[in-house]
Amino acid sequence: MIKTWHLGDSRQSMVLASFDGRLPEVVYWGPALPEGEAHQAIAAASIADVSGGMVDRNAAVSLSPEASQTFPGHCGLSVRDKNGTQLAPDSRFRSEAVSEHGVTLVFADDALGLTLTFNLALDAKSSLFKLRSSLESADEIIVDWLAAPVLPVPAHTGEMIEFSGRWCAEFLTRRIPFAPGARVRDNRTGRTDHAHFPGLIVCSPGTRNTSGEAYAFHYGWSGGHKMVAEELQDGRRHVQFGHASGSLPVGRTFHSAPLYVTYSGSGLNGAATRFQKHARNLVAEGARSPRPVHYNCWEAVYFDHELDELRSIASQAADLGAERFVLDDGWFGRRDDDTTSLGDWVIDRRKYPDGLTPLIEHVKALGMEFGIWFEPEMINEDSDLYRSHPDWVLGPADQIRGRQQLVLDMSRQDVRSYLYEHIASVLKHHDVGYIKWDHNRVLPVVDASQAEGTYALIDRLRADFPQVEIESCASGGGRIDFGILERTQRVWLSDSNDALERQRIQHDAALFLPASVTGSHVGPRKCHTSGRVLDIKLRSWTAAQRHMGFEMDPRELTEQEAATLRMVTGWWKANRDWMMQADILRLDSSDPAIIAEQQLAADGSRFVAFAAQMRPSDQILPYPLQLTGLDPNAVYKINLINQDEAPALSRGAPLLKEHDLEVSGQYLMSHGLILPWRFPETIWVLEGRRL
Ligand code: GLA
Repeated sequence: MIKTWHLGDSRQSMVLASFDGRLPEVVYWGPALPEGEAHQAIAAASIADVSGGMVDRNAAVSLSPEASQTFPGHCGLSVRDKNGTQLAPDSRFRSEAVSEHGVTLVFADDALGLTLTFNLALDAKSSLFKLRSSLESADEIIVDWLAAPVLPVPAHTGEMIEFSGRWCAEFLTRRIPFAPGARVRDNRTGRTDHAHFPGLIVCSPGTRNTSGEAYAFHYGWSGGHKMVAEELQDGRRHVQFGHASGSLPVGRTFHSAPLYVTYSGSGLNGAATRFQKHARNLVAEGARSPRPVHYNCWEAVYFDHELDELRSIASQAADLGAERFVLDDGWFGRRDDDTTSLGDWVIDRRKYPDGLTPLIEHVKALGMEFGIWFEPEMINEDSDLYRSHPDWVLGPADQIRGRQQLVLDMSRQDVRSYLYEHIASVLKHHDVGYIKWDHNRVLPVVDASQAEGTYALIDRLRADFPQVEIESCASGGGRIDFGILERTQRVWLSDSNDALERQRIQHDAALFLPASVTGSHVGPRKCHTSGRVLDIKLRSWTAAQRHMGFEMDPRELTEQEAATLRMVTGWWKANRDWMMQADILRLDSSDPAIIAEQQLAADGSRFVAFAAQMRPSDQILPYPLQLTGLDPNAVYKINLINQDEAPALSRGAPLLKEHDLEVSGQYLMSHGLILPWRFPETIWVLEGRRL
């Protein structure tokens, strides 16, 4: 007996089948199948042969492959009774509940008292599947591994793009072939972390940004994940995501986080734009619109807070176009450096004798909103909080410190109440519109209840202070995922304000993140994290590609630099309404020295393209830049908005240097635009409008 289920929309279909009541398996996932397709036939046709040296029936790559079925690879569930004896559930169909966009399937092993539930839904707005597994047990058990619903990936997709990174270099991608055996990533840092963005894109060798097939995955969880991408010895491949190993406490009820997946037949961009859209939808309700231009004082003053100086910086930031002033680390306890005071969330009266109100009033009088930095989950030993509650610390006393700090145990109600009271008190007594919520070290132990505790605290604060936006920061991009984005409205993508590094990080983060949530600031002339000196034009346009802000000391700006920054900020404000809703389409530049993207308005009526010359090209003439996502039959008017930046060494007369171009979408996508020659570490910006 075969039971089948189908989920899908006009872009993709997923067909599941359960044979003789056993756990369901995905028997088709790919381009949308026609209406009325015979799902039973597809299920029956999915049965593979058996040959020499094999067991007599192939164990299914089910939503949770089972050891009891002689599954020859990494199982979807690894569970022990409370004495430590391994259990091997053999689950059978119990019930189903079908709704408009999804299905809930319940399977159980009655003898072991284990019930597995799969929630499978397709988000109609973004075309992302949201998949979740839950496990219930009659007795207390130890769960070593609970995969979110496990999905097979087809044989013709032989490669995977996975993510690594480090401080100041988030979202590094690596494209590697599948090979027999498992590629395992087990992120035991206790947070999403710079080195472990929980994503994977399975694709064909020929898949590019703008063409080819891609199966993309993202695990929406901030507590550290494990990923398994395995090729079995029989050639079948599958992908699993779940919480990091060893992070689930003994209990009776367990859940995976949501796994977001999508199939794209239109290159990496097809998947990227759905993740971007989903993230835009997640934050839409809580986020200020239009997105305000930020000023953050961290790289201007660090811990040296002086009221008059901050006032003067705020005035200059407002004059440059800032609309939100964020007071970073250093305003509380006796925080003169990073050795002290985390946990003591009371205003430092040495620095602010009359409290924060004088600064806030000044900021507001300039027409800006006031934002403030917290690092709630952390504690310094040199703090009143530690002196009164040393027992609130997570992990052993002799653990290695991180940035001289320890971590609070967020699973404790008293810890969360303390933090709530102190943060709420600042919010109640001041006109604060924004929190930058930091998390500057990895955890000493991996425990899912830590991330759950943080989620609960943020949820409580958001419920009571819905007008206060929150930015997720963890030494830059150490906590970026859809779990945190369900409750925060912006991410600090990286501590690197080096515009060249940002170009690369932003480009790769756009595989999942839209502009509206991705903070990007114009840093100091000489970058504090790379030592590199970059021109204000590149720095300004790079920030203008995302949610724009400034972070340098404005007093360092020459008049010319200030004028450029003011001009680009004005341009950003004039365009942000549509850009913050636009799809970021990564362009396939023929020249590896160029990183290029196109932001296409939701209605397709306009776009802006950015082409950054990261280093000198090998060939002397710029290759044509091919655009994407346009209507081939429409005519577009193209204008190179910074055409006056062509250097004297650009001696020829490419049309865009002096004129606009009116030409078809087909030409723009197939032939591409010839840009003037220019120096490395510069950027061209092109505007296009459909006529
Ligand atoms: C982290 C953040 C920075 C800044 C400092 C303050 O490193 O990523 O942006 O807020 O903390 O200590």
